[in-house]
Order: sequence, then structure tokens, then C-alpha cells
Amino acid sequence: MTVLVTGGAGYIGSHTCLELLQAGKDVLVLDNFANSSAESLKRVQELAGKELKFVEGDIRDRALLDSLFSENDIESVVHFAGLKAVGESTEIPLDYFDNNVSGTVTLLQAMKAAQVFRFVFSSSATVYGDPHTVPILESFPLSVTNPYGRTKLMVEDVCRDLAASDERWSIALLRYFNPAGAHPSGRIGEQPNGIPNNLVPYITQVAIGQREALNVFGDDYDTPDGTGVRDYLHVVDLAIGHLCALQKVSKQTGCVAYNLGTGTGYSVLDMVKAFEKASGKAIAYNITARRPGDIACCYADPTFAEAELGWKAEKTLDQMMADSWRWQSQNPNGFAPS
Ligand code: NAD
Ligand code: UFG
Repeated sequence: MTVLVTGGAGYIGSHTCLELLQAGKDVLVLDNFANSSAESLKRVQELAGKELKFVEGDIRDRALLDSLFSENDIESVVHFAGLKAVGESTEIPLDYFDNNVSGTVTLLQAMKAAQVFRFVFSSSATVYGDPHTVPILESFPLSVTNPYGRTKLMVEDVCRDLAASDERWSIALLRYFNPAGAHPSGRIGEQPNGIPNNLVPYITQVAIGQREALNVFGDDYDTPDGTGVRDYLHVVDLAIGHLCALQKVSKQTGCVAYNLGTGTGYSVLDMVKAFEKASGKAIAYNITARRPGDIACCYADPTFAEAELGWKAEKTLDQMMADSWRWQSQNPNGFAPS
């Protein structure tokens, strides 16, 4: 039986494909390379010592999806494919609704036609908006502040309505907090397009001299050192969370959301210090204005995922930083040849 992984060539998808192969699963990846390359899948197969099947194509292509379902013995779908840049989503919202919402609806239609009802979806802590308190529980009110976040909440709503309409569906909505780090081999990791939006890739690019200094977006938040606090989660822990979710959707039906985070918040300056310790490199930084749309503090209560999925983040911040640095220093151009 095969797991279809959409967006499997991307950052989180590639780490999840590796864990799936290592757990003995057959994997079929569908990716259009909008934000990735085939090199990541080549390396995943090298690391696993096993092959996966790969198709270059788009989740919005219904005919292609139908042929994948009819030609492969697919039992479940892990759905990563989508666009993910918050700033870009405010400039080209239609592309985000088309890829993330229409694309997911097309995928779910093809699944229904093929009678495949097990679905694991990449949601995001962004669906909690600006929470009144932390740590964040799954039962907290949902709200969003940008088109990207809206696509995640819309797909969550689609999934809840779908599961309510037909009890054969079994859906896990995985609300990721802040994925960071890379595989400890240094062979796969995150390859941001252009100037990184996210903190850790920006720090690692400063460390290799691709950027001059980190801009710390505000030091006047109501947090211990005034800088933003987030729940950074090692990407390998996150990948393993998908295996736990796949187990769960094979045993129960309905649509359930799970927080995937560590439960610990670190500030921007904590992250800079941790990176300096792991890499031995000094990180130049400037305090600048707050980034519009940022919130002060966001971290998970991960106890529901532990109780229900048997999943808990195991890796430390030091490991996250050491692995990010290994990936960045060994692959200064990401997956492109140097
Ligand atoms: P990524 O961009 O590295 O991976 C997404 C993959 O999907 C890429 O390989 C891309 O080429 C592919 N893709 C995009 N549109 C497609 C389409 N229409 N058809 C087929 N393939 C398509 O991103 P990631 O960081 O690995 O994120 C994976 C998922 O997790 C996304 O849905 C993202 O929104 C979600 N997520 C990411 C984060 C994060 O901080 N990285 C946080 C919360 C949620
Ligand atoms: N930050 C800086 N400088 C930078 C980049 C980030 O100071 O150059 C700060 C931010 O202000 C924030 C923290 O570092 O306090 C983390 O910022 P990221 O951009 O890495 O992460 P966010 O929490 O803002 O957003 C991430 C994903 C979103 C997702 C959200 C919630 O990028 O897609 O988590 O899951 F919606």
C-alpha cells in the first residue's frame, strides 16, 4: 500500500518521505517543483537506500490525479503541496486561493472518486491569529490576518464539512508551529527562494556571509527580552509526527486538529545565541521596526498530540541549530550545484 505525498520534494515533505521510506512504506510523490527541485528526492532515496516513485505535476490537474489513483494502490494522502509565503500572499492572493484551496478541493474530489479517505493536511499555527493567552490549545478560537492564513483555515473548514458529510473520511489537521533545522546528515534541508522570510534560514545565511546582518523585527514586545517568541520545532520531529498521524487516521474516522510544537517558546535573541553556540559563528544583528502582522508570542500546548498520536518533539534547540548549520555550510546554494 502506497502513501501519496503531495509537495514531497519540499522542505517538510522531503524529510517526511525519508521517514516514510525508513518505516518501510511505499511512497509516491506528486510535486510541480514550484518551490523545490528533484535533487531533494534523489538525496532522500540515497539516505533511505530505497526508491520512491515520483511524478512531476500539479495537484490542480484532476486527470493526472485520477490516473495516479487508478494506477497505484494508494491508501492515504499526506498533503504538503501549496504556496507558503505570507507577504507574497497579500500581493497575489488569487494564486494562493487557487493553489492552496482549489488545489486541495480537487485533490479531495479525486480521493473521493477513488474511495481513498485517509488525509493528513499541513495546517499552521497561523489559524490561531493573535492568541489571547499561551500556550495555545486546539480548542482556542480560530482567526486569520492574511490570505495565506485564510487558505489554511478555509481548507480546515472544507475538511470539517467533508468529514461531517460522510463518516468514511479520516482527516488529521496538523497545525505546525515553527519548523526549523535539517536532517542531521546535512543532505536535505530548507532552500528558501530569494531573501528568507523565516528567522533560522536568515541567520544561517548571515553566518555564511550571504547576508550582512539579521534584522531583528522589534525589541519592544511584551516578552522577556522584548523580541518575538515562537515555538521552534525540529523538522525531523515534525516529519515523524506525520507517521503518527497516518497511524491515527488508519484507526479512526472524523476530522481532528493537532498542535505539532514543543511547548517551549524562544525569543529571537535566544535563537541568535543558540546558533552562535552551535556554529561558533558570530551573528551580526540590528534591531529594526516590528514586521507588520507579527505577534508577540506563540507557542503550543502539545499535550493533545502526545495523548492522541503518541507523538512528542524529542530534539533540542541545540540540535536544531547544529543541523541547520551543517545543512547551510555544506550546501551554500541549497540543492543547486555549487
Ligand atoms: P515547500 O515550499 O518547501 O514545499 C511545498 C512543496 O509543494 C514544494 O515542493 C512545491 O514545489 C510544491 N507545490 C506547490 N504548489 C504545488 C502544486 N500546485 N502542485 C504540486 N506541487 C506543488 O514548503 P514546506 O515548508 O515544506 O511546507 C509544506 C506545507 O506545510 C505547506 O502547505 C505549508 O503551507 C505548510 N506549513 C509550513 C510551515 C513552515 O514554516 N515551513 C509552517 C506551517 C505550515
Ligand atoms: N524575525 C526577525 N527577523 C527576520 C525574520 C524573523 O526578527 O529576519 C522574527 C519574527 O519577527 C518572529 C520570529 O523571528 O518574531 C519568527 O519569524 P518567522 O518568520 O520565522 O516565523 P513566523 O512565526 O512569523 O511565521 C511562521 C511561518 C508562517 C506561519 C507561522 C505560524 O513562516 O507561514 O509561522 O505557523 F503561518
